[in-house]
Amino acid sequence: MNKVGKFVIEGGRKLYGSARVSGAKNAAVGILSAAIMCDDGTCTIDNLPDIDDVKTLIGIIRQMGANVTETDRGTVVIDSSGVKSNKALFDELKSMRGSYYLLGALLGKFGQAEIIYPGGCNIGVRPIDQHIKGFQALGAEVITEHGVIKASADKLVGGPIYFDIVSVGATINIMLAACKAEGVTTIDNAAKEPHVVDVANFLNSMGANIKGAGTDMIRIKGVKELHGCTYSVIPDQIEAGTFMIAAAAAGGDVTLLNVIPKHLESVTAKLEEMGAEIIEESDTLRIKCDCRPKAINLKTLPYPGFPTDLQQPMTSILSIAEGRSIVTEGIFEGRFKHVDELKRMGANIKVEGRVAIIDGIKKLSGASVSATDLRAGAALIIAGIIAEG
Ligand code: EPZ
Repeated sequence: MNKVGKFVIEGGRKLYGSARVSGAKNAAVGILSAAIMCDDGTCTIDNLPDIDDVKTLIGIIRQMGANVTETDRGTVVIDSSGVKSNKALFDELKSMRGSYYLLGALLGKFGQAEIIYPGGCNIGVRPIDQHIKGFQALGAEVITEHGVIKASADKLVGGPIYFDIVSVGATINIMLAACKAEGVTTIDNAAKEPHVVDVANFLNSMGANIKGAGTDMIRIKGVKELHGCTYSVIPDQIEAGTFMIAAAAAGGDVTLLNVIPKHLESVTAKLEEMGAEIIEESDTLRIKCDCRPKAINLKTLPYPGFPTDLQQPMTSILSIAEGRSIVTEGIFEGRFKHVDELKRMGANIKVEGRVAIIDGIKKLSGASVSATDLRAGAALIIAGIIAEG
């Protein structure tokens, strides 16, 4: 669903006031996929973000036979008793990365799954070899032909899995496929992101037996059945971090509501290094900044390191920081496509492979730019807010 959105931004104003952070996108897509595995009862899920990926996925699970009723803004009740097919071959799946979770959910539910090869932001190659390695370790045969991934197993049997690379998607996908497999599955070198923990907590609310989510070793003991539950999606760490960066870049005094400050420790640390004042309370964060940000060095890493999804918004604020910043993209090999757009606004950035060298200038200038991916869009909006004109 690629709607072309357009914003005209008059830059140069400080930011004041408060914003409520939505539910986490990267938890929601895993949780909505997991809900179709329910064998008995319904799943009530609230605090879902109001975004295309959620709407698309709800549309898809409806087409698969689930009954999804929206009882309130951001709240759905899902009855997946009508999901009979192990296939999800809808073109909409090409528009989002999170669709690959249907592979793990359908394989876990039916022992068979066929999905359209996933899409997602153009930030690198984005292979799924670790997902496939995990499914094979559970006894599934996986083939890809004509743009469709097919996984099937006579019986899914738990076992040890070691990920060669820390992968959020593969970690969640294997948790889905393993939660009803026979025996115990261990995932070593697992991703520790908050949204991985959230999907594990949701599955446990459905009666799964998952321990260690949030550490690099997750243990899943297969259960016979998954039942309905009521669950609230965690606040979006990346959305909160984006607002924090915008507030520090524009200057002013902004309070974010419905956040988990612990999930933002790396962002808080870097913004304080740049001169922002950040006040934490139990579920709010206040950002005050009235000085020109100072240049810093940054490397994106798996959680709890600095999140790759905030690298792009950070290059916007660093474009006007005092001094030279070195930004190293430790996760994706193609995540600097927004830099060319920032250069149209006067930014002084040199990209060499996974490193961007940013010499801060006093002011960006307004220009007509386009977003190459989701987080590039966020970065360019921040750039527009702080630009002259
Ligand atoms: C998830 O993508 C997020 N998307 C991304 O957010 C996020 O940037 C990323 O995790 C890292 O945190 C969703 O959750 C829907 P990975 P994912 O598997 O699962 C390589 C956003 O803006 N890899 O953790 O695709 C991969 O190429 C999006 O919200 C393999 O080599 O990321 C990358 O270099 C963008 N083989 C690294 O691992 C695999 O089988 C981490 O990728 C899988 C991944």
